[in-house]
Amino acid sequence: MINRVFDQEYLRDPHAVYARLRREQPVALTVTSQGVRVWLVTRYEDVKAVLADPRMSKDFTGNPHVMKANEIEGGDSSGAAAVVPDNMLFNDPPDHARLRRLVLAAFTAGRVRALRPRIEELSRGLLDGLGGEFDLMKEYAVPLPAMVVGELLGIPEPDWPKVIDWSGTTIEGSAHDPAEVVAAARATIAYLGDLCAAKREKPGDDLVSALVHAHDQEGRMTMEELVSTTWLLLVAGHETTVHLIANGMRALLRRPDQMALLRADPALVPQAVEEFLRFDGPLSTSTYRFTTEPVTIGETDLPAGALVLVSLLSANRDAAQYERPDDLDVSRRAGQHLAFGHGIHYCLGASLARTEGEIAFTHLLTRLPGLEAAGETRWRPGMLMHGLTGLPVRVTSG
Ligand code: HEM
Repeated sequence: MINRVFDQEYLRDPHAVYARLRREQPVALTVTSQGVRVWLVTRYEDVKAVLADPRMSKDFTGNPHVMKANEIEGGDSSGAAAVVPDNMLFNDPPDHARLRRLVLAAFTAGRVRALRPRIEELSRGLLDGLGGEFDLMKEYAVPLPAMVVGELLGIPEPDWPKVIDWSGTTIEGSAHDPAEVVAAARATIAYLGDLCAAKREKPGDDLVSALVHAHDQEGRMTMEELVSTTWLLLVAGHETTVHLIANGMRALLRRPDQMALLRADPALVPQAVEEFLRFDGPLSTSTYRFTTEPVTIGETDLPAGALVLVSLLSANRDAAQYERPDDLDVSRRAGQHLAFGHGIHYCLGASLARTEGEIAFTHLLTRLPGLEAAGETRWRPGMLMHGLTGLPVRVTSG
């Protein structure tokens, strides 16, 4: 019988489920809520190996039968297949490298550095006037990364809310009705097509204008790839960072000793951000991969054409890799965590995410000195994202 890993118990306590899998079934065949059969890999060493394995493909467009072939009776993988695939994350070499290089040319360290003062300004603006009891997610952790990604891409401010809403639906397909996911993906693509056309008419100092230029002047990207790459930056860049901030704050609120350490020595914030990424990172699993030939992971043999998900959340709590993995320790050197993935698809936005995280935690700790939890938290449903439904807090002084 195949286990359903992503069930009610997982929703209550994903770490407990992953701990059991690492112990008893480190490469487990399971079925997603959409009725798709997938192998779930949970040990650190195996996860890292899968992410670097060239026999694991992400080219679902070139192999459209793979998803369908893994549906169980009554399953519906159309939501998972609704991702917009003409971008680096859903391509193998050599297309992957071509598409990634084009974005890297525009998404430079200089661009991230230049964004820093603007992120600080946006963060301060959100924190001004916050006091009493409020939902830290709604008031801060959700809007800050939305504003940053909107600013980075050059999306006009009045459009930010609707675009972010669509992106939330597409990124967590497993928590929505497949038809809803398909509709949100279509709406985003239509919108981004228009945005690219507008940037062509009137370029700005933003990433979409730079990518339009790469398309028009250098012809190294098709129109589909241009729109799809913009879509990827939007969905990959927003909600992940939301959960870095909110999950990290939740962890700190439960550990006043760690909060006090950070307040006493703000120079620890960058390494604390790494620990938050390790401890309760924003992504429970990677995106899908499939085997192009029979592959053995650990002691488990997988046939060709098998779908594989690795759990980044689980790998980062593996006792074979970290001492006291279930303890939050902001003085830990949490390097080597897999929250940003590994191998050729390693997160392209990692430095921007780190910058946002550093600014957010520094501001939250200094501007809201008497911050404490004001209620219970719950994990939101879904397989890919590891995030909260809300983070009720209260400010008692300052
Ligand atoms: C804390 C925040 C973030 C986390 C935890 C995160 C995590 C990840 C992970 C795990 C992957 C690899 C997925 C896989 O191999 O299946 C990835 C890829 C990617 N991320 Fe991020 N990400 C974050 C923020 C961002 C931001 C801010 C951006 C850009 C604005 C971004 C852009 C990308 C892109 C373009 C890829 C695809 C890279 C490729 O396929 O070569 N991410 N991210």
